[in-house]
Amino acid sequence: MGTAIAEGLLKSKFSKAADITITKRNIATLQSMKEEGIKVTADNAAAVKNSDIIILAVKPYQVSDVLKSFKANLLSKHILVSVVTGVLISDIRDTIKINIPVFRAMPNTAISIQQSITCISHFNANASQVGYIKDLFSALGKVAMIDEKLMEAATVLGACGTAYAMRYIRANIQGGIEIGFDAATASLIAAQTVKGAAELLLQKGTHPEQEIDKVTTPKGCTIAGLNEMEHQGFSSSLIKGIAVSYHKIAKE
Ligand SMILES: NC(=O)c1ccc[n+]([C@@H]2O[C@H](COP(=O)([O-])OP(=O)(O)OC[C@H]3O[C@@H](n4cnc5c(N)ncnc54)[C@H](OP(=O)(O)O)[C@@H]3O)[C@@H](O)[C@H]2O)c1
Repeated sequence: MGTAIAEGLLKSKFSKAADITITKRNIATLQSMKEEGIKVTADNAAAVKNSDIIILAVKPYQVSDVLKSFKANLLSKHILVSVVTGVLISDIRDTIKINIPVFRAMPNTAISIQQSITCISHFNANASQVGYIKDLFSALGKVAMIDEKLMEAATVLGACGTAYAMRYIRANIQGGIEIGFDAATASLIAAQTVKGAAELLLQKGTHPEQEIDKVTTPKGCTIAGLNEMEHQGFSSSLIKGIAVSYHKIAKE
């Protein structure tokens, strides 16, 4: 997640390589980043000293130790952004014990191609700091500003949503093969069709049902197939799956 963000900031030209530092304990795996001109170090405290924006992208169980490794170096100039799942802004503030702006961001794996939806909430940030962090994640896809209490819901719909969409596409590929396509052609058709459908909604701002009306002819094959999917529980199974994911994450 951390390197995907760094790469996206470079590719989108939001940041220059020389302005980015990546930290990691085993920096041997960051050779390609180093070759692009990004600074690479295992020293969190030194990296924080020389930075203004800190993006925390470690596993939830690593957060406390990592914050402790640099909290003595935090100054009022710093903005802290955490993309860590399940760690509250208040948990972070309790550890760092300094009153700097703290953001929580929930991207998804499409951030590696600058096509994420990143849900963001914040505490103690002024309008220009909020604007800057919004611009940063907008360089990596789309952004939705949300209340922190919706972060678990954002994790399900935005981050788990990538897996749900993949399963939908996989099912289309399987169906496509059954009706005559080879796997590669079925994959291309299924993925591009889903991408095009999503772009129709994003670019036109229409409701899915409006777009469905355009492709369903009375007595036609589309509505027959769609209704059969619904008889088999298509929408209901998706809604139930989203609710189960949510209850699982909200409980933990
Ligand atoms: N994957 C997703 O779809 C997704 C979406 C939204 C949010 N997230 C969240 O993003 C976070 C990162 O996820 P990920 O999949 O990128 O995990 P990951 O691949 O395990 O990356 C965590 C990184 O933290 C580094 N690290 C661990 N301890 C460190 C320390 N003391 N100092 C400096 N670096 C340290 C690790 O490198 P070393 O071991 O070499 O130090 C590793 O590169 C997680 O909290 C996850 O919940 C993930």
